[in-house]
Amino acid sequence: MTDYQHVTDDMTVYRDGTIKLHGPEGYEGMRKAGRLAAEILDEMATMVAPGVTTAQLDARVREMTLDGGAVPATLGYRGYTHSCCISINHVVCHGIPSDKRLKEGDIVNIDVTPLLDGWHGDTSRMFLVGDVALKARKLVEVTYECLMIGIAEARPGARLGDIGAAIQKHAERHRYGVVREFCGHGVGRLFHDAPEVVHAARAGTGPELRPGMFMTIEPMINLGRAPVKLLNDGWTAVTRDKSLSAQFEHSIGITEEGCEIFTKSPTGLDQPPYG
Ligand code: MF3
Ligand code: CO
Ligand code: CO
Repeated sequence: MTDYQHVTDDMTVYRDGTIKLHGPEGYEGMRKAGRLAAEILDEMATMVAPGVTTAQLDARVREMTLDGGAVPATLGYRGYTHSCCISINHVVCHGIPSDKRLKEGDIVNIDVTPLLDGWHGDTSRMFLVGDVALKARKLVEVTYECLMIGIAEARPGARLGDIGAAIQKHAERHRYGVVREFCGHGVGRLFHDAPEVVHAARAGTGPELRPGMFMTIEPMINLGRAPVKLLNDGWTAVTRDKSLSAQFEHSIGITEEGCEIFTKSPTGLDQPPYG
């Protein structure tokens, strides 16, 4: 049995394992945070190019976040000292910005989370650096499809496992590996809240989705096998077999009709090519 907790504007929220049910002020807050997050990624689309360092991208993320009246939720999060995560090629997630330069043919995930007026807009997209090989572009395309297929399952009455089941089915149809070590999560006033949104699951299992639930869906899909390993920096996750990995992430809220995507690009730049 699942516990739910209705959230009101004036209450302190705890991470107690219950799934929060948010009201109108939550949707308003997430729309604003999500919009800023999407605008930051739109800007990234204009900057990603061979020769650009990931530290330069991180600096722009920080600047746009602060200019938007927000703070990067990753800054100081469990000792992380950057404003976003930038994960290149076989890096699955949590790549640390550095002086490393992007190069022609790379596929890159940029994951941003502005914390605006108490709400977390958590989203990531893939970017293609110059000419990218067909099989890498296909991985990126199918990973975006996985995200949107998962989102299509998110509606009242569905079970949480329906999301992961749909994603897993689509990825495995293409013989890709679905990462198990990291998952989506409840989001809102807390960066990472209940429930865990796994991207490989059995349909019909898990808690029932209800209007007011906020969560991220963020499948990580590998061209090769699913297992990942953590590098010695304690953050960078890479594919064990060194195959390419792709990820897209949206923050969504369950509505009476289905769901609302808080982090959609206002200019339609949700997936590459960005023009
Ligand atoms: N944005 C990531 C997520 O989707 C979390 C990054 S935490 C960090 O949940 F510390 F690695 F930045
Ligand atoms: Co997330
Ligand atoms: Co994220």
